[in-house]
Amino acid sequence: MTNFVTVELDQGVLVVRFNRPDKKNALTSEMYSALIDAIVRAEEENSIRCLLFTGRSDCFTAGNDLQEFVVGSSESSEVDDAVFGFLGKIASTRVPVVSAVGGVAVGIGTTMLLHCDLVYAATNAKFILPFINLAVVPEAASSMLLPRIAGYQRAAELLMLGEPFDVEHAYRVGIVNEICTPEEVFEKAFSAARKLAEKPPSALRSVKKLMKRESETVRERMTTENRLFKEHLETPESQEAINAFFERRKPDFSKFD
Ligand code: COA
Repeated sequence: MTNFVTVELDQGVLVVRFNRPDKKNALTSEMYSALIDAIVRAEEENSIRCLLFTGRSDCFTAGNDLQEFVVGSSESSEVDDAVFGFLGKIASTRVPVVSAVGGVAVGIGTTMLLHCDLVYAATNAKFILPFINLAVVPEAASSMLLPRIAGYQRAAELLMLGEPFDVEHAYRVGIVNEICTPEEVFEKAFSAARKLAEKPPSALRSVKKLMKRESETVRERMTTENRLFKEHLETPESQEAINAFFERRKPDFSKFD
C-alpha cells in the first residue's frame, strides 16, 4: 500500500491521483502497483464507468522515479514489471480513461496520455519526452503512436530533441483535447468523465475497442521498446545522464562512442 496514489470513487468515476508532491509525483514501483490495482478495480466493478487520472494543479508527474533507474539501486525486474504492467493495462483497458493535466508531465506523464480517450490540460502544463536525454528510447508505444497522432516530423522533433513543450503545442499536435485554466482543469475533466459514465456502457466499450483495434500491434511495439529501454538503461551513457540529474549538472556524453 502507498499513500502516494489516492483513489476515490465519485459518481461512477474512479479518480486516481498522483500524490507525491515533494518528488514532483515521480512514480515508484509501489505507485505503479497502485495504478494497476485501480485499473483492475475499474474493470471488475460495474459501478465504475470511467477512470480519471490526475495529479495536482501544479504537477501531473515527473515520470519514472529516476532513483529506481540507478543501476544496483533496486531490483530492475521489479521496476520493469511495474512500469510495463501499468502501460499494458492503460493501453488495453476497456474502461474509458480521461486525464486532467496541470504543471509538469514528464516521460510517462506525457506518453500515458497517448492511451487516454480524453485529455484536458491546463495553461501551466509543460510536457517533456526526455528519453533521448537519458540515453534511452521512448516507451508506451509512443514511438508508434506519436508519429501517427502528430505526423513524423513533429514526433521526431519531440522524441529526438527531447525539449519541453507547452500546452498550445500539445494541443496543436493532438495530444490534448482542450486547454483550461489550472483552476478549472480538474472540473472540466471530471465533467467529461461524468458524461462518459452516463453513456450506455457496453456500446461505449465497443466504440473504444473499435478505435483501439490496433492494440495488439501497440503491445508488440511496447515489448520491443521495453527491451531496448532496458538495454540502454544499463549503458554508461544512460547512467551518466541519471547521475547528472541528481548532481544537478549537465551530462557529458562526449566520452562515449
Ligand atoms: N525521479 C526521482 N526524483 C525526482 C524526479 C524523478 N523523475 N523528478 C524530480 N525529482 C525530485 C528531485 O530530485 C527533487 O528532489 P530533492 O528535493 O530531494 O532534491 C524534487 O523531486 C524536486 O525536483 P526539482 O528538479 O528540484 O524540481 P523542478 O521544479 O526544478 O523541476 C522537473 C521539475 C520535473 C522538470 C525536474 O525535476 C526533472 O526534470 N525531473 C526528471 C524528469 C525525468 O527525467 N523523468 C524520467 C522520465 S523517464
